[in-house]
Amino acid sequence: MNVDGKRYRTIWLAEDGVTVEIIDQTKFPFAFETVQLRTMAQAAHAIRVMQVRGAPLIGATAAYGVALAMREDPSDISLLAACTVLLETRPTAVNLNWALDRCRRSLIKVPSQNRAEAAYALANEICDEDIAINLSIGMHGMALIAALAQTKRTGEPVNILTHCNAGWLATVDWGTATAPIYMAHDGGIPVHVWVDETRPRNQGAFLTAWELGHHGVPHTVIADNAGGHLMQHGEVDIVITGTDRTTATGDVCNKIGTYLKALAAKDNNVPFYVALPSPTIDFSLSDGVRDIPIEERNGDEVSWITGRTATGALETVQIVAEGSEVGNPAFDVTPAHLVTGLITERGVLDANRQAIAHAFPERVKKS
Ligand code: MRU
Repeated sequence: MNVDGKRYRTIWLAEDGVTVEIIDQTKFPFAFETVQLRTMAQAAHAIRVMQVRGAPLIGATAAYGVALAMREDPSDISLLAACTVLLETRPTAVNLNWALDRCRRSLIKVPSQNRAEAAYALANEICDEDIAINLSIGMHGMALIAALAQTKRTGEPVNILTHCNAGWLATVDWGTATAPIYMAHDGGIPVHVWVDETRPRNQGAFLTAWELGHHGVPHTVIADNAGGHLMQHGEVDIVITGTDRTTATGDVCNKIGTYLKALAAKDNNVPFYVALPSPTIDFSLSDGVRDIPIEERNGDEVSWITGRTATGALETVQIVAEGSEVGNPAFDVTPAHLVTGLITERGVLDANRQAIAHAFPERVKKS
């Protein structure tokens, strides 16, 4: 993404080759600020407080967190301890587990004097792979958008609804759900995006709208509950969301509210697609509703809201009456039968065990 004339990834190494830099996503959309991570503890903190968020970026940050830990102390104990600390930062996005597992398995075989260098190389590789995956998802997803464009009058946009932020900011570059949108837009296909605000943390309003705007993609932010109404009135041609964890059977866990969009899409014959990088598939799980751990976040995210006042000052205000109980499950699970297709780096798949296993045979555990 170009910001102020400079091309950015969402995570990169500083000029010293060891300090990790990120964009502080808690400051969006009001400020673009970068943060330097010099220790594993700082990387863990950045994930925990959501300075970085989004499944693929969480995985990439964790990999750099391991590299920072190996710089401090490259022993076996330090490697295992770093993986434990980083794994505990957030429970739902399986990319965290995937990246840490990969780091642990690979680095434990490396002599300790070479571990820091190997850990940085591995983190760089994970980032490069994420970009390649997203570009491939973009190509496959763009074909779906292009097909819908054929059904439109000249110049009439394909209306895409998305939830949360499965965009550039959720990945190392391009995004998962947004890669097809950016490619379609760049390729001259008229698109318009309905951006769910995505309460309570407003990743749609704060992050997705910001990045679509920066890329010049026409979009409209809507209240979370507006999607069903728009679908009933033929205003949504396709839903594309991301996912934090998808089971081997195609059950999709994503930001809270995704399930309701899938139900509305089914009722209105709107295709519901999920952009799915393979590190987000949890091949050990078959029943998403039963088995995927759902992060329960602080109720203050529901009862308080931050915004900019007319004078430009940021203000955090309470919107729930004192004394009311608040609940804040951060994710929900959309059962596979509501998913039209999974847009992966290896093509668009049906959301079922056979199709997923056929596309990623090397990831299927042999019993
Ligand atoms: O709580 P967050 O902001 O980390 O949740 C992110 C999402 O739910 C995204 O939609 C998902 O990670 C897909 S990101 C490519």
